[in-house]
Amino acid sequence: MKIPFKSAHEIQLQRAAGLVAAEILEDMCQAAKPGVSTWDLDQIARAGIQKHARIVDQEVAQAARAVRDLVANGNYDKAELERLTKTYSQLRALAKPGISNAEIDRAIAETATYHRVVSAFLGYAQPPYPAVVCTSINHVIVHGIPNKREVIKDGDIIGIDFGIYRHGFCADTARTVMVGNVSEEKRRLVEAARESLEKAIELCRVGSRLGDLGHAVQSHAESRGYSVVRQFVGHGTGRQMHEDPQVPNYGKPGTDKRLKPGLVIAVEPMVNAGAPEVEVLDDDWTAVTKDRSMSAHFEHTIAVTEQGPWVLTRPSSTPGNP
Ligand code: MF3
Ligand code: CO
Ligand code: CO
Repeated sequence: MKIPFKSAHEIQLQRAAGLVAAEILEDMCQAAKPGVSTWDLDQIARAGIQKHARIVDQEVAQAARAVRDLVANGNYDKAELERLTKTYSQLRALAKPGISNAEIDRAIAETATYHRVVSAFLGYAQPPYPAVVCTSINHVIVHGIPNKREVIKDGDIIGIDFGIYRHGFCADTARTVMVGNVSEEKRRLVEAARESLEKAIELCRVGSRLGDLGHAVQSHAESRGYSVVRQFVGHGTGRQMHEDPQVPNYGKPGTDKRLKPGLVIAVEPMVNAGAPEVEVLDDDWTAVTKDRSMSAHFEHTIAVTEQGPWVLTRPSSTPGNP
């Protein structure tokens, strides 16, 4: 499969997706307290998606009005039209004489549908993933399914993974939250996983190779006595949540594909306190450590730019400043 490289404009749109994903993930992380169920976290995410879906609808309606106002007198500035429709480019179709109200309404509806914030997880794959967030507690590595009867306890570590599309582009991001008083062992594991992602992010620049990233994650985790999961990997992300290339959390320096400007990848180390082996439970989703040791997961969506890494799912990041 071919890697879909992104233009600077496409990366801007994916950044907008990243900001929404980051905001909603942050809300869930703040809410992850003892007594809260994983289903409650899914509800928070669904509300966040709805709120941002409405914001897109309002922006589209406003841009459509601006276009209609601009072209109303027949003679208008083409550059001004371009500016007004930079994000919602489909609305340029409204700049033609004699267009009917029905056509206008249809163009607005189609544009909003294309750009609207939607879950990247709900209904994904087979069997269809049933929620908008993955909640993975303690020995669950990834893909834990939210459940009303699963309640967060003091001392738990919970991986929260969240993905959306906005403007037709995916943002995929995850974090492991330490709830209340966690043991020193768990704290060290979570810190190592977080740091291993930061080491890989630093390498998301032109000239690096995927093997360099994998090696950075693996060597950091293993130097602390942990193991990295091999059965799941990071991935390119864009118009599809999962695109080429695969981004393993292990590898040899100087091997595998070279990173180029316009590459956008989701890097997501899964670090186990014990052995790397995975077991998938009977729900066909929940992935746990075979030895039931603790596991931590962090993920960011990162664009490779000429200036360096741009962490699209980290609000403070700018191109070259991860
Ligand atoms: N977000 C996960 C990843 O990091 C995939 C989740 S699978 C889903 O790639 F079914 F939950 F969407
Ligand atoms: Co994810
Ligand atoms: Co991912």
